[in-house]
Amino acid sequence: MPAKIICLANHKGGVCKTTLSVCIADAFAREGLDVLLVDLDPQANATRLVYDFEESPAVTIEKVLDGRESIAAAIVENTHIEGVHLIGSTLKLAVLERQLQQTPFSSTSLVRQKLALVADEYDVIILDTPPALNFLTANALAASDIVMVPIESGSKLSLLGTDDMLEFIKQGRMANPQLKFGGAILTKHDARKKMCKITAGAVRDYYDHVLTASLPSTTDIHKSQAGGQTILQYDRDHNASREIVAIAREIAAIASLPLKEKAGV
Ligand SMILES: Nc1ncnc2c1ncn2[C@@H]1O[C@H](COP(=O)(O)OP(=O)(O)OP(=O)(O)O)[C@@H](O)[C@H]1O
Ligand SMILES: [Mg+2]
Repeated sequence: MPAKIICLANHKGGVCKTTLSVCIADAFAREGLDVLLVDLDPQANATRLVYDFEESPAVTIEKVLDGRESIAAAIVENTHIEGVHLIGSTLKLAVLERQLQQTPFSSTSLVRQKLALVADEYDVIILDTPPALNFLTANALAASDIVMVPIESGSKLSLLGTDDMLEFIKQGRMANPQLKFGGAILTKHDARKKMCKITAGAVRDYYDHVLTASLPSTTDIHKSQAGGQTILQYDRDHNASREIVAIAREIAAIASLPLKEKAGV
C-alpha cells in the first residue's frame, strides 16, 4: 500500500509546524514505520534539524520539482533520526516557487506526481510547509491524505486568519477530494495559564476536530534543537516527548497507519 501523506500547515509563522513534523517523524519511526520527511519550506529548518545546520544535501526538492533530478536521488537515508529519510530544501526553493507561479500550466499536483514515484517505499510521508498560503502549501495539500493544523496556544493572534486557512483547505479539497482535515494541534500549550485555556476553548469552537494531546511549552525543545536532536532523543521521559508520542498515535489512528509497536518506544 502506498504511504499515507500527512502535511502540517498553517500560514502563521512559528506555530511549531517544523518542530512537530520532525518530532512526529521520529515518533512514527520509533513505532516501526518507514518514514519520509519532506521539507517544502525554503527556510529549510527541517533540513537543518535532521540533516545538518550548515550543509545542505547534494540534491534537494527544488531540483526534483524543476525536473533536473529524480526524486530517488534527493532521498537522504542517513539523517539524525533513525528510520527517518529526508528530502531537504534550500532557499533556492523560493526562487523556483516564484518561477512556477508565473509559468502557465504549472501544476499544484507537481509534488503529488513526484511523491507517487516513491510512495510504495514508505508507510508515511510527512510534509513540512512554509508559513504562507502559497504554491508550495497548495502543492502540499494537493498531495496529502491528511492535513493537520498546528496552532499556538495562549496567543490571541493565533486565531486571526483561521478563516483563510480553512478556506485554503476547502480549495485544496477541490484539487484533491481525498484530502481530510485531521485536526488542529495546540502547541506551546500550558494548561495552567488562563490565556491558554481561553485560546484552547476558542480553537475547539472554531475547528471540527482538535487533538486531545497537545505540545507543551518548554525551553527544552530549544535545547534539543540546538544539539540537533528531537525532544524524544534528548529526553524520552520528558512531558513534551510523551505528548508527541500521544499526538503521533492520534494521527496514526486518523490515518489508519499500521503502528508496529516497537519495544522501547
Ligand atoms: N513546545 C515548544 N515550546 C517552546 N518553544 C517551542 C516549542 N516548540 C518549538 N518551539 C520554538 O518555537 C519556534 C518556532 O517553532 P517552529 O520552527 O517549529 O515553528 P514553524 O511553525 O515551523 O515556524 P515557521 O512558520 O517559521 O516555519 C522555534 O524557535 C522553536 O524552537
Ligand atoms: Mg517551519
